[in-house]
Amino acid sequence: MSDEQVTGPRLRGALEGIPSYKPGRPAAAGRPVSYKLSSNENPYPPLPGVLESVTAAASSFNRYPDLACTALCAELADRFDVPLAHLATGTGSVGVAQQLLQVTAGPGDEVIYAWRSFEAYPIVTQISGAASVQVPLTGGAEREAHDLDAMADAITDRTRLVFVCNPNNPTGAAISGQELERFLDRVPRDVLVVLDEAYREFVRDESVVDGLDFYRDRPNVCVLRTFSKAYGLAGLRVGFAVAHEPVAAALRKTAVPFGVSQLAQEAAIASLRSEDALLERVEALVKERTRVLAGLRSQGWTVPESQANFVWLRLGERTSDFAEKAEAAGVTVRAFPGEGVRVSIGETAANDIFLQVAEGFR
Ligand SMILES: Cc1ncc(COP(=O)(O)O)c(C=O)c1O
Repeated sequence: MSDEQVTGPRLRGALEGIPSYKPGRPAAAGRPVSYKLSSNENPYPPLPGVLESVTAAASSFNRYPDLACTALCAELADRFDVPLAHLATGTGSVGVAQQLLQVTAGPGDEVIYAWRSFEAYPIVTQISGAASVQVPLTGGAEREAHDLDAMADAITDRTRLVFVCNPNNPTGAAISGQELERFLDRVPRDVLVVLDEAYREFVRDESVVDGLDFYRDRPNVCVLRTFSKAYGLAGLRVGFAVAHEPVAAALRKTAVPFGVSQLAQEAAIASLRSEDALLERVEALVKERTRVLAGLRSQGWTVPESQANFVWLRLGERTSDFAEKAEAAGVTVRAFPGEGVRVSIGETAANDIFLQVAEGFR
């Protein structure tokens, strides 16, 4: 190629056509009341003690943060009864998910996940150069759950990683311990299974087992957790993985140096120490979830049981229309055009507006 023909630096072909991550729409500006129910955020202010810790840490942000997140990891190791060497932190659990791809997969490899599920999975997979294998959800509009048998059937020699989103974003469906165990027993030991438990704290179905119980005696299982949802630290970007070595060690190697700010580290520690308040808030959101689901069902909607802090309405072609009506009424929701809307459980007043819109829409 002559120099005149060159239009710019050569970028990796694998990046072409990557869907961009769509953040939830912000609350509409210029209205007397408007709520954001589009990003599964926590509607509560920071937990007690968090603002004080962050404010104290802010006075030294001329310094780099603790690279190894030493104090936070010590707190996590203690809380979850795992060895320090099995922990790796990152810039939100989506940051850790991207690293998980970096350490397992590349061109020629395959990554399996349910679809529809968390929209970051196709993005981080394509960035790695690996191919996505999407396995449709099963169980119809009442369940919208992972088809674990089909996912196990989809494993080939090229499979390097399987994401299991439990509960699933955006449908809220959770996988029972029995189902998960049967699935894990079918996965070859050289394939990493990532149990993405971003919404674990909201699970009330006792048949759903904590992923950490599976990780303990399975070196190919990695559990992903975040401080963004129940803990209410979405804006500070801190998540973590629990996995055996060498997976955890590989994650520490690939972390963006100093990616987790000192503010985020201090906030996460203070949040962990504020467990009573956390449990109270989560319980209130779970109660609201029960109320919203019951309200929708009494209006005649078929909605899958949600174990997360959001609910899912399959609306097909009417999705965008619903999202517009919700926004006009004062709540922004997450629309997946042609499929459905995911609506976070928020303040009671916000949930009431959503229920009114749903009723009017039927
Ligand atoms: C299933 C799931 N995993 C991970 C994340 C990422 O959360 P964060 O990067 O804020 O920790 C989200 C956020 O929406 C999610 O829904």
